Amino acid sequence: MLYLVLERINESGPIARSERRTDWVLRIRVWTMLKSWYSTKHCTIHELQHGPCLLIRYGEHYKKNSEMDFTWIEEAWKMKGHLETIKKGMKEKGYNFDSLLVPSDHPSRALSESYYLNSEYMLRAHTSAHQSDLIKQGLDAFLVLGDVYRRDTVDASHYPVFHQMEGVRLFSKQELFSHLGDTSRVTFFENGSRDATKQERHTIETSLCLEENLKNTLRNLANNLFGDDVEMQWVDAYFPFTHPSWELEIKYQGEWLEVLGCGIVEQEILSSAGADSRVGWAFGLGLERLAMRLYSIPDIRLFWSEDSRFLDQFNVVDPNTKITYKPFSKQSPVINDVSFWVPDDFSENDFYDIVRNIGGDIVENVELFDDFVHPKTKRKSKAYRITYRHMERSLTKSEANEIHSGIVAAGVQQLGIQER
Ligand code: DAH
Repeated sequence: MLYLVLERINESGPIARSERRTDWVLRIRVWTMLKSWYSTKHCTIHELQHGPCLLIRYGEHYKKNSEMDFTWIEEAWKMKGHLETIKKGMKEKGYNFDSLLVPSDHPSRALSESYYLNSEYMLRAHTSAHQSDLIKQGLDAFLVLGDVYRRDTVDASHYPVFHQMEGVRLFSKQELFSHLGDTSRVTFFENGSRDATKQERHTIETSLCLEENLKNTLRNLANNLFGDDVEMQWVDAYFPFTHPSWELEIKYQGEWLEVLGCGIVEQEILSSAGADSRVGWAFGLGLERLAMRLYSIPDIRLFWSEDSRFLDQFNVVDPNTKITYKPFSKQSPVINDVSFWVPDDFSENDFYDIVRNIGGDIVENVELFDDFVHPKTKRKSKAYRITYRHMERSLTKSEANEIHSGIVAAGVQQLGIQER
């Protein structure tokens, strides 16, 4: 059903002003790819389990079917040996971080945050990774859809693979100030200083005009998806690749919910990509997250369900059809706790990966409920509550217990934990 969200994003025209043929080629490719993905290629995706190794096979499959590319950076990869196949077919380096000016000590580069394949390659962690390459190719308004991979907690809103959409729009002076008629009285660039509202190279009028264009575009997008009366707010944010930067939050069931990150593209990125005579904005949003809100889907694992009781609810032609997901069954969970001593270099995401690899989609949630250091020995202990629940059928206690023992055994073997 993600394509329904995309159709609606498309309709609200985030890049409406783009006339260049190449832009449309890219856009069309994005839509077609996504549609075919969720219909004909559905099975291919679902033959795979969701451990990182298998995610990569999915990545390769994806690569064959599109020109999108994984990115790579120079960092060591711990699990070397399982994943050699991905090395083939990679090109150029540094898209995920370097091309976006992410500092070398930025926390998002940590091994515990992403899937690194070896010292050269990683699975892309965000669609922003494609910005610079596509700008280099001469595109000035584009949307990029991609599967992105992150190591994270195990709960209803996180999954190691999800989909993002990136939007980039560049402007010449003439385009940005087209509403003025005579643009000779405004200045596009300067050698000034950076402050909260602008970059060194941008004049205040360039920066404010970009900001307004960006915010209007995204406001329009949010209204189109969530209705004209949706409450929204802009929150100042920081991203290494944009300045100024914001997050858009919408009110959902009484709570502010972040739906996207955006900002004015760092001029240095544009100059490295050969587009220094222009300025631009960019945004990135998570599609599952939007779809969950739009259709009241309670658990992100459902996006991988092949159950017709789920899929048929989204089998509509008109993307504007109002759909509210109706749960088809609520199976009862099996809850098991485990507590163990951890080695000093223990990383929670390593444990979550083991849970995902062994438990797959049967694990609904992992909660750290006890965390302490022994006062004398200084040994660290952690206790997790794991909720097992099958989305489509009932799960027996012994089935869950077997998975649970498998998880603990793998933790002992691979992470050096000691059960208490
Ligand atoms: N890449 C960011 C993320 O995954 C989202 C984002 C923020 C994309 C700002 C952008 C941007 O293009 O300008 O969290």
